[in-house]
Amino acid sequence: MKKPWQGRFEKETDRAVLEFSASLGFDRRLAPWDIRGSAAHARMLSAQGIISEEEGLLILQGLEDIAAEIEAGKFDYDLAFEDIHMNIEKRLIEKIGPTGGKLHTGRSRNDQVALDMHLYVKDEVEEIDALLKGLQEVLVGLAEKYEEVIVPGYTHLQRAQPVLLSHHLLAYFWMLVRDRGRLKGVFERSDLMPLGAGALAGTGFPIDREAVAAELGFDGIYENSIDAVSDRDYIVEFLSFAAILIMHLSRLSEELIIWSTAEFNFIELDDAFTTGSSMMPQKKNPDVAELIRGKTGRVYGSLFAILTTLKALPLAYNKDMQEDKEGLFDVIDTLKALLPLLGSMLETMKVNEEALAAAVDDDYLCATDLADYLVREGVSFREAHHAVGQLIAYSRKVGIRLSELSPDKRSRFHSALSDEIGGLLNPATVAQARLCRGGTAPGAVKVQLQKARTLLDGGS
Ligand code: ARG
Repeated sequence: MKKPWQGRFEKETDRAVLEFSASLGFDRRLAPWDIRGSAAHARMLSAQGIISEEEGLLILQGLEDIAAEIEAGKFDYDLAFEDIHMNIEKRLIEKIGPTGGKLHTGRSRNDQVALDMHLYVKDEVEEIDALLKGLQEVLVGLAEKYEEVIVPGYTHLQRAQPVLLSHHLLAYFWMLVRDRGRLKGVFERSDLMPLGAGALAGTGFPIDREAVAAELGFDGIYENSIDAVSDRDYIVEFLSFAAILIMHLSRLSEELIIWSTAEFNFIELDDAFTTGSSMMPQKKNPDVAELIRGKTGRVYGSLFAILTTLKALPLAYNKDMQEDKEGLFDVIDTLKALLPLLGSMLETMKVNEEALAAAVDDDYLCATDLADYLVREGVSFREAHHAVGQLIAYSRKVGIRLSELSPDKRSRFHSALSDEIGGLLNPATVAQARLCRGGTAPGAVKVQLQKARTLLDGGS
């Protein structure tokens, strides 16, 4: 059978050109969406009297049979027909004869592929959003479980102030709230129907774009046919969303990796989510967390690839745009694989509460509160900061913790430091003091947790 565009050619396409330019190897995954789009188009063509009712029914039956063949793995893909769109059309003609050739009336592969991609992205966005929600559930569940466990909070990866583990974990919950907000934007921008744009200028047939859009569940229709076939913004936006998301997940993974080292020993990852070393029998490696961190590279790469491909492309369709697929597919597969894994890894990890208690038993974590105490006694914050700083330098030099230095020794650095300060040097007290909205006091975290729960249970 001849290719649909063979008419003006005298020679066969060079085999190397075929192999270089065909997208069949990767766009075959679009088959279900291609068939859905074609069926809607065929129904519209027949409703509008552009093809007869019998022709419409014949095409619909043919498409249904092809869908079943593909589903059953019995479809014969032919590279000579470049992409999934032409493969399905060729098969349709094989099955139902020349009527199959009427399906493409008023349509081009340019608006067809755009339609398929919009439908595909919308479906994948919904699946990924559900996975993100699942991960949020895990984080909130862990925050509830370890609501009052205290951990050292860090800045510059230096111990800073005690915080609740729940507070730390919920920080990731709110990142995911923003990620899901961005994903919602991707959905909205994918929810416009390009079909009817033809190759670029629209079509002279009396098509009904509204009917097709309604049948396919689109919220709107592209107002400009050139924009409809040229727009890949929703793909760029999806990849930007994914780049920011995986940056967040990579930060979380990094913390799991650090926390599970012998040096920190805050958590132990479950055996089922770690691997061993082929040489060192003692090793238990956080491979999943490392791979999530590692896969950040390919996700950023796909974003840069599509931005670079689109840069300076003249309107309207150019073959360059076929490059919009592999990176997107790879990122979608990557996210769908890692999101459930990350959730399970978090759910099954063991939190070493003893090690955490030992880690927060560190007077220096309470130094800010000591300075704050002096401020309440009327000392300026700068003076207080300096006095406590000197006290700490002294405590480090003599190797005696703050709480064990005599009032007399302490008063050398500031008279008010001779007061009874033991109660201040307690991580729980320090955490409790941070009652401001968004702070780490158990009371404030409870409010935060309730907000997070409500957001999840309220269907968001
Ligand atoms: N396989 C092509 C792509 O993915 C389909 C559109 C082809 N259009 C064309 N005018 N060659 O972009």
